[in-house]
Amino acid sequence: MQTVTSIADARAAREKLRSAGSVGFVPTMGYLHEGHLESVRRARAENETVAVSIFVNPTQFAPDEDLATYPRDLERDRSLLEGEGCDLLFSPPVEEMYPPGGGGIHVVPGNVAAVLEGASRPGHFRGVATVVAKLFNIIQPERAYFGQKDGQQVAVIQRMVRDLDFPVEIMVVPTVREPDGLAMSSRNTYLSPSERAAAPVLYGALRHARELHERGERDADVLRIAIREILRSETLVVVEYVSIADSQTLEEMDHVDSSAMASLAVRIGPVRLIDNILLCSPT
Ligand code: PAJ
Repeated sequence: MQTVTSIADARAAREKLRSAGSVGFVPTMGYLHEGHLESVRRARAENETVAVSIFVNPTQFAPDEDLATYPRDLERDRSLLEGEGCDLLFSPPVEEMYPPGGGGIHVVPGNVAAVLEGASRPGHFRGVATVVAKLFNIIQPERAYFGQKDGQQVAVIQRMVRDLDFPVEIMVVPTVREPDGLAMSSRNTYLSPSERAAAPVLYGALRHARELHERGERDADVLRIAIREILRSETLVVVEYVSIADSQTLEEMDHVDSSAMASLAVRIGPVRLIDNILLCSPT
């Protein structure tokens, strides 16, 4: 695996990979877990070569968020990626991606980024879309892999690729979970033992909504209330939002008559956790 830290070296390495065939690209912020590695494996299986980026992108963090303390372990990440047969690792320093004197032009996503995570974290998706656009321009992958874990991020990137005509196919990888259902996340390491014990209620609540939906419930408010009721059973959980929305536009639904995403954000102690589940369109 070749590791590069400059854009020029990444472009040169990418040119070499091009001759071997399609490049599958997995953008990450590092501190890799099975959720990330699942995308790497998919990329490995579906492309001749695999490129991964590790970059804790400052522009998607608000000033009061965990940029400074975001967990990092580049050496461990590197050996995990070697083990998965990754060909190219791009791990630039901040000054390489955002040199002094730059900035001022951003990718500003529309309505799809205004709700849910976008409402709770203003500017977050502008930072995500901008860095992903830059990474796409640097790596120029045929396919790029994103986790369903961040369902709104998927919707924003799909929209960006369509609206700005990026020649890249967006591949969505199902959420990888701990045995008790908690979605894997680098931020899970912040949970205390009692907070960790409460956290599986998120998936429990979403699964309950999916069961109700599978049994024919189509009233979105009934599903939202059912999710909130289950979350209430854990006193450590403070709910930020519960949503039943169209999975592409993320507009809230009254009646679940097309493909929907049930999603939620909560705080457990100091930790903010998100999760979602897809409710398949009824046939
Ligand atoms: P990061 O949080 O490191 O996640 C990188 C990729 O891994 C994302 O596509 C995310 O959805 C996916 N992922 C995380 N946890 C997962 C899980 N439990 N199961 C499946 N996939 C999972 O998302 C980002 O970084 C950044 O916003 C980024 C896209 C890199 C832009 O900076």
